[in-house]
Amino acid sequence: MESKYIPEPYKIKMVEPITLLPKEERAERIKEAGYNTFLLRSKDVFIDLLTDSGTNAMSHYQWAGLMLGDEAYAGSENWIHLEETVKDLFGFKYVVPTHQGRGAENLISLILIKPGMHIPGNMYFTTTRAHMELQGGIFVDVIRDEAHEPERDDIPFKGDVDLEKYEALIKKVGPEKIPYICVAVTVNMAGGQPVSMANLKAVYEMSQKYGIPVIFDATRCVENAYFIKKREPGYENKTITEIIREMFSYSDGCTMSGKKDGIVNMGGFLAVNDEDLYRQASGLVVVYEGMPSYGGMTGRDMEAFARGLREAMDYDYIRHRVEQVRYLGDNMSSLGIPIVKPVGGHAVFIDARTFLPNIPQNEFPALALAAAIYEQSGIRTMERGIISAGRDKEGKDYYPKLELVRLTVPRRVYTRSHLDYVVDSVKDVFEKADNIKGLEWVYEPPVLRFFTGRFKPL
Ligand code: F0G
Repeated sequence: MESKYIPEPYKIKMVEPITLLPKEERAERIKEAGYNTFLLRSKDVFIDLLTDSGTNAMSHYQWAGLMLGDEAYAGSENWIHLEETVKDLFGFKYVVPTHQGRGAENLISLILIKPGMHIPGNMYFTTTRAHMELQGGIFVDVIRDEAHEPERDDIPFKGDVDLEKYEALIKKVGPEKIPYICVAVTVNMAGGQPVSMANLKAVYEMSQKYGIPVIFDATRCVENAYFIKKREPGYENKTITEIIREMFSYSDGCTMSGKKDGIVNMGGFLAVNDEDLYRQASGLVVVYEGMPSYGGMTGRDMEAFARGLREAMDYDYIRHRVEQVRYLGDNMSSLGIPIVKPVGGHAVFIDARTFLPNIPQNEFPALALAAAIYEQSGIRTMERGIISAGRDKEGKDYYPKLELVRLTVPRRVYTRSHLDYVVDSVKDVFEKADNIKGLEWVYEPPVLRFFTGRFKPL
């Protein structure tokens, strides 16, 4: 049965042509890219599902805002607009702009983490954990167990923090060794799974009891708010803005990559309530990003970001966005393709271990599958498995339970027929899955190895 599709709540007034290369050329291109989809040239990609980060289509209202860019070195009007918007929507007292999410992660890690400290979080994210580890911190996963089980589809909030795991860590290392807890809303690496309001509240209460600050990763918070409205009793009649306000009232600050739910191509911020933290961050932002009135963004970027944040709160927009992803997932699932369930907010994640049961994890099944999907169809996807997980301090590979290929849907970019083509193409690969071979390293970079690593087939 076909899943219901909500018509796009927008019409198209500018187009960007895309072309599908012939099959032999696609095979050549992926080989040249060392079988790493990050190393493909964008012009060689037909449908780009690598990421939803910075790949969004802006509205005419955002484009109009670009012309109002106030490119003053200090005190830009667009900064004032962005700052007011963030304070109003999220309820924080202070905002520090950064060029993107990881700029904010750098600031908070530099200020709060001392070597040997433990930072709990609901599953790691690559850049977030890398910044923690650069400061000598140790990330500790406190997400509920079911988040690691791709087949479990009976849990509406798979991103929830496991309070027992969190409290056990506090008791083991002591609250003074925990600079903050990082709560991602939604959880990217778990498949875009949301966190419930009840859990956010409980985490905040426990943290307050032990004097531990709560820092949200707000990157996909609007998608999280939509899931709360749909799935959590008591929120069905609340607006997205009201839900966002309540969510962030259970935190002391947040980092945000505007490139996702900010519906822009570049931008980010750190927001906090503590004045001293704000002063320190304002001092450091000058060193790493730029003045506290632009933080690496142009005036026009900041204007588009302020406008994008408001647009993201629109129910018709966010409903279409999340339901479009669900449509893609439901249609793949109905063909028997193994995916993470329930379908998350920004992407469909294929379970590569089940898709390719004969390829062991140290032969990189998820990347091998991503390369095969490109070769088959010109569709670019992303590995989220052992390569993304990297190595620990002793140099041993992390072996994450989830070995996934992510099909990430950019906001307001593709239509139903694009998604139908994706479903048909993955089905073709699924039917020939036995032909896919594992990969081995040709070049392994020392940090964030998934971005630039190169491979060859075994
Ligand atoms: N936090 C989460 C949950 C993210 O997904 C990302 C980026 C960041 C932080 C860092 O933000 O890229 O603006 O520096 N995720 C992208 C992705 C790269 O493809 O999932 P950034």
